[in-house]
Amino acid sequence: FPAPQSRQDEAHAASSLGLTRRMRRNRKAEWSRRLVREAALTTDDLIWPIFLMDTPEARSPVEWMPGVDRLNIDEAVRQAAEAAALGIPAIAPFPYVDKALRDPTGSEALNTNNLMCRAVRAIKAAVPQIGIICDAALDPYTSHGHDGVMDGERVLNDASVAILVQQAQALADAGADVIAPSDMMDGRVGAIRAALDGDGHEDVQIMAYAAKYASAFYGPFRDAIGTNATLVGDKRTYQMDPANSDEAIAEVMLDLEEGADMVMIKPGLPYLDIVARVKDHFRVPTFAYQVSGEYAMIMAAANNGWLDGDKAMLESLLAFKRAGADGVLTYFAPRVAKKLKAG
Ligand code: PBG
Repeated sequence: FPAPQSRQDEAHAASSLGLTRRMRRNRKAEWSRRLVREAALTTDDLIWPIFLMDTPEARSPVEWMPGVDRLNIDEAVRQAAEAAALGIPAIAPFPYVDKALRDPTGSEALNTNNLMCRAVRAIKAAVPQIGIICDAALDPYTSHGHDGVMDGERVLNDASVAILVQQAQALADAGADVIAPSDMMDGRVGAIRAALDGDGHEDVQIMAYAAKYASAFYGPFRDAIGTNATLVGDKRTYQMDPANSDEAIAEVMLDLEEGADMVMIKPGLPYLDIVARVKDHFRVPTFAYQVSGEYAMIMAAANNGWLDGDKAMLESLLAFKRAGADGVLTYFAPRVAKKLKAG
């Protein structure tokens, strides 16, 4: 090359790097970035987890999740209507159960008039077009905060499954559209499927918390449903070891064999490799749960002025889509739906 003589010549010389492919060309303008964009987040991808509480007040704030409140049934019905109007396909209610109603076997879970069943009936009656996804797990109902029943320090598998099956039946009878077993007992998907089919609930879907890890990111959720103070020990004998990935494939395979219609990975962002691997491997409807701790991290940083909250919210949710998720459970659902609607 001739030696550059001026700044302009220098700029010209830079364009003779001899590159056939310049990745920046497609990024030069907004119209072009839009044109080549691969993944998209839409309101159809959202599932909104909400917290229920039996109180005269419409709402009570969840301290560790700024912007999230526990709702009484009337308010939950109003919020479900608003979510439906925004185009959110489904909600996932979780109960804060009165501590006086909790016992070692979680018997309140089988009360067909418990908070969840009453809420499901009320929401179904008022907002029939929204999907209702109900957890099958005993932790909101047990005095020890575990997802199943215990013998001493051990969480029993088969005895827990027998109760979870009845819980699922009660929820389906109340009108749940989807049962989401989040307990991680072995064999519960198959047992619940058989019971639902035997009950005339063959159209009730199962979204399996297939790969659910024993995670520190559930902390704020346990504050929301009041199991944080009562949880005895941890959940590492039934939830997965965060170090494992092949094991997630085995968990998903078993849940699909047992009849799961949809599978879920949880938590979300720290486990995107699992989301991508599961989707690539099985090509079935695959969901991710952006859990309470992920929500709390974004909100805490945003409230400190350390992150642009809206941008971080949208980027984190888009990442799930890029990884291959078909949808995301997120506490941001109404906020992001409003944002998407505004364009
Ligand atoms: C309970 C359940 C948990 C979550 C959903 N269902 C907590 C746990 O396993 O301890 C966590 C959700 C969240 O953190 O947002 N079976």
